[in-house]
Amino acid sequence: MANQFDVIILGGGPAGYVAAIRSAQLGLATAVVERDKLGGVCVNIGCIPTKALLHSAYLANSFRHAAEFGITTGEIKTDYGVAMQRSRKVADQNSRGVDFLMKKHKVTVVKGTGVLQPGRKVKVGNDVLEAKRAVIIATGSRVKGIPAIGLEINRTTVISSDEALVLERAPASLAVVGAGAVGMEFADIFNAFGSKVTLIEALPRILPLEDAEASDALAKSYRKRGIDVIAGAKVTKADVAKDTVVLHVEAGGEKKKVETAMVLMAAGRALNTEQIGLAECGVQLTDRGFIKVDARLQTTAPGYYAIGDVAGPPMLAHKGSREGVVVAETIAGHTPHAIRYDNVPSVTYCHPEVASIGLTEEQCKERKLDYVAGKFPFSANGRARGSGETEGFVKVLRDKQYGEILGAHIVGAHASEMIHELAVARENEYTVEEVDLAIHAHPTMSEAVAEAALDSLGRALNI
Ligand code: NAI
Repeated sequence: MANQFDVIILGGGPAGYVAAIRSAQLGLATAVVERDKLGGVCVNIGCIPTKALLHSAYLANSFRHAAEFGITTGEIKTDYGVAMQRSRKVADQNSRGVDFLMKKHKVTVVKGTGVLQPGRKVKVGNDVLEAKRAVIIATGSRVKGIPAIGLEINRTTVISSDEALVLERAPASLAVVGAGAVGMEFADIFNAFGSKVTLIEALPRILPLEDAEASDALAKSYRKRGIDVIAGAKVTKADVAKDTVVLHVEAGGEKKKVETAMVLMAAGRALNTEQIGLAECGVQLTDRGFIKVDARLQTTAPGYYAIGDVAGPPMLAHKGSREGVVVAETIAGHTPHAIRYDNVPSVTYCHPEVASIGLTEEQCKERKLDYVAGKFPFSANGRARGSGETEGFVKVLRDKQYGEILGAHIVGAHASEMIHELAVARENEYTVEEVDLAIHAHPTMSEAVAEAALDSLGRALNI
């Protein structure tokens, strides 16, 4: 039967396509249903193209300081259109990579919009696919505006990351609403490409989920680069005209107007849970709109699993991919290593980068934990000085009694790479002392991790 599989996966993003590969590796006949390009938001209009643009932004800012390094460049000109075209190529290459992986693992890719049906079936157009073992829902999320205050995405003056990724030129001015990962990354990009950027965040700090010291360091760095950072600010209304938008903002008891050529909405994403037959199959949602899952990621309908953004926070590609592996192994009858959601690293790829794992210092205080914060600034690190990237620090939060790594926070160049040392340590329950026992090569930025660990023990060497 051509339409019979062991596993059918709805959605070919980083959660779905990884679940497909792992299912196929385990010998299960697997199909992925995808209406658009394989790789989902992450590969096509998310993680991958933004990282290409952020590298362009990094180069533009580096070249502006080239003279300090003994390099004469002449006038620096930026062209967002060229950077955008390059980022599209990178995204397309990655998406083709996922096509290749599906072929390599003999996963059947069904193009079209799938709708779930009872009895572990998925309808795609006129075809009905049937899963002998399980259906995995991995439909992800999409951009959203705030229509209630006049900020409906109109794709010209009020845009989302979807449109920002295909703009031909950077706008003269840009107001970014929301300073989570999306807002921070695009504020960085457009500032480097010459837009006058205003970053507006409702909560008291930008990157509000990060450690307060990390947020503060970023606010300082952004302001230094000329980004207008307004936190604790409520956008009450937007007057959207043909070429401009006026945002009415209330912050610190004052009212002000922000006039801008374009607004980029970065205040969270909407879940793709509508019109896919969830209710008809008995798949229930939580109060917050995520698909309700148990510890094995099975929904309220036996034989239907959910992974990735639709299955709950954090809405991160790497969390979805890991869920894909775990669900595939569960369906194949294995007992996979349980996901520790408190060990999902969080990374914002703006400059300087912000990476963290575990608790923030504020959470340690709220929980009345007996902890010590060890900190080491990159300004005291030889490698960072050499590359002129001395912004930021490493902070390690150590449990006083057992030496447990309660949390770790890195702000600085390559923070996204350095956090994994601490992720390995936490996942394997190494102590802060054990992190220091590993010899860190000199000179590296990673030495700051070892020094922060030592600082939490009261014996940092180089500060
Ligand atoms: P987010 O939920 O991370 O951040 C949205 C921010 O907007 C919050 O700080 C929120 O307080 C603020 N906000 C909400 N309403 C507002 C309003 N009316 N006015 C001003 N501020 C307002 O959502 P974001 O950044 O849109 O990202 C969506 C998802 O994608 C998140 O789960 C994020 O973690 C993920 N993502 C991850 C990336 C990474 O790992 N580097 C990159 C991009 C997205």
